[in-house]
Amino acid sequence: MSRPFANIAVDTPVKILLTESEMPRRWYNLAADLPVPPPLGPDGKPVTPEMMAAIFPMGILEQEMSGERYIDIPEPVLEILAKWRPSPLHRAFGLERALKTPARIYFKNESVSPAGSHKPNTAVAQAYYNKIAGVKHVTTETGAGQWGSALSFACAQFGLTCRVYMVKVSYEQKPFRKVMMAAWGGECIPSPSGRTKAGRAALAKDPDCPGSLAIAISEAVEDAVSDPTGSTKYSLGSVLNHVMLHQTIIGQETELQLEKAGERMPDRVIACVGGGSNFAGLAFPFVKRKIDGEETTVIAVEPAACPTLTRGTYAYDIGDSSGMTPLLPMYTLGHEFMPAPIHAGGLRYHGMSPLVSRAVKEGLVEARAVGQLECYQAALTFARTEGIIAAPESSHAIAMAIREAKLAAEEGVERVIVFGLSGHGHLDLAGYEKYLAGGLEDSTMSEEGLADSLKCIEGFPKP
Ligand SMILES: Cc1ncc(COP(=O)(O)O)c(C=O)c1O
Repeated sequence: MSRPFANIAVDTPVKILLTESEMPRRWYNLAADLPVPPPLGPDGKPVTPEMMAAIFPMGILEQEMSGERYIDIPEPVLEILAKWRPSPLHRAFGLERALKTPARIYFKNESVSPAGSHKPNTAVAQAYYNKIAGVKHVTTETGAGQWGSALSFACAQFGLTCRVYMVKVSYEQKPFRKVMMAAWGGECIPSPSGRTKAGRAALAKDPDCPGSLAIAISEAVEDAVSDPTGSTKYSLGSVLNHVMLHQTIIGQETELQLEKAGERMPDRVIACVGGGSNFAGLAFPFVKRKIDGEETTVIAVEPAACPTLTRGTYAYDIGDSSGMTPLLPMYTLGHEFMPAPIHAGGLRYHGMSPLVSRAVKEGLVEARAVGQLECYQAALTFARTEGIIAAPESSHAIAMAIREAKLAAEEGVERVIVFGLSGHGHLDLAGYEKYLAGGLEDSTMSEEGLADSLKCIEGFPKP
């Protein structure tokens, strides 16, 4: 009888698991090893924590500006993270076999969280620091809805209310995200909305505006700062240093799990990038080791339709559409950039985390762009071999892992490839449906379109 599973020894672990007591107790802060230029206010001077105090609680601001290498994770945060953490590291035997590759492929599975992605790792921490600062209400934006769901879940844990401005095109593509938020007590509003000045301005310019993360951020910040009682703060799901910090539990767990699997430093560390948090979470502990002299190739994968790292400019730009945020030193496509309505809604952001941007600029991280058709094809291969239906965002990492595994096969090299499965796609089936029916297209940005969208940052200071 043929043995289809002959390359798997019965005692080879497929899921490499850690116990709760092995969960990392501190976050890693890349800013200690890779300082970034400071955020600037409208006057071109560095912003102080006090200037941001109307938006964020002090505990968060201290982390945002911290140069400490490690920061302890508070016990109440660990207690909630333990509901699903440590998350499993899987060996992708099925995918390896299908690709006939000598590479050993592992993926870190963040889809097991309550909201279905990595986003709760920081949502829980942010809700906690708001709670201990006496905040009652939190506002935010969301692209694909993963972040809004995660923050709604986290706010429910600490008895806070949560209002989410969701990019309209995603709101329409993924109606059940709103229901998830509501189940956790969160309120979800399509953006641009008529509730805020920023939303009304976007609608006046284009009544059919599909929305963008930049507009949704403006709406959420405006909503928070206009609460006369001062009991509302804003929470951001990516981009800023403290968000990168909170996600590093992912990479630290992965290091322990690889060690358990008998692996050393992986040859490739791959994750998708929108604002940078899932990528930072998996990759930054490995980037630290690279800074310390170990060798690896770390790859950030973005959509060809929103090529911030691969075609954007390293410059100061605002994080939203109307200048409610400070100027951040980052790769950007210009804050007026209106991305094509691709299904990876969480990757449609004009800017990038200053820390991720700096790591790319310093050559510690390679950036690559992939079209959505290759990503969906990769996601189907993954679903049919590993069983999991991935989020469209995560499919960018899968596509790159497949490219690298095929390259290892061509070169006959036994590489260790680790990629981040940042979320599942159970609420993203409309995209899969269209792809399966042949109704999706690749879209790339023209050179003229790019030059046009960068015009809005011409007068800004240079980092
Ligand atoms: C599943 C998933 N992965 C990745 C991302 C990209 O965001 P970030 O770059 O902050 O990880 C998102 C954003 O919504 C997401 O939902």
